Amino acid sequence: MSASKPRVEVLHGVNLNMLGGRDPLHYGTLTLRELEEQIAAWAAELGMAVGFFQTNMEGEYVERLQTLAGGGADAAILNPGSWTHYAYAIHDALELTGIPAVEVHLSDVQSREPWRRISVIGDLCVASISGRGPDGYRLALERLREELGGESGGEESGLV
Ligand code: DQA
Repeated sequence: MSASKPRVEVLHGVNLNMLGGRDPLHYGTLTLRELEEQIAAWAAELGMAVGFFQTNMEGEYVERLQTLAGGGADAAILNPGSWTHYAYAIHDALELTGIPAVEVHLSDVQSREPWRRISVIGDLCVASISGRGPDGYRLALERLREELGGESGGEESGLV
């Protein structure tokens, strides 16, 4: 890992601003702000710098990814919400970034409606994590740290 902290951008998509008011069985009870505070604390522990972005506009999400293509971050964590399942423009924008990315879903998308089992970004991601609640973001940070040449998350990460 380089001397400066690796910078990870966390991109929350559509309806993620409503966390805390969505079905707690799927999404838990944390608000988006509380979730971001937790992610920032984990990033600090791991020696990583983290930035956050949320929008309900698909075009804005694409434009944010385009800024990352210009060196805006070393890695990205994406939870595009329901765009995950059909938004090919987000796939193409993520491909443009050329940086390692992890897909995270709070809920277990594999055990819900069949349409949620499809991810149009999964093929571009070094890992896809779902059903782990907020911990999924910690696992994603650990995986990206490993990917960027830092210490391995190893067994602690629970990732294979
Ligand atoms: C989600 C899962 C999506 O299917 C859903 O549309 C969301 C959130 C998750 O974090 O579990 O909005 O990405």
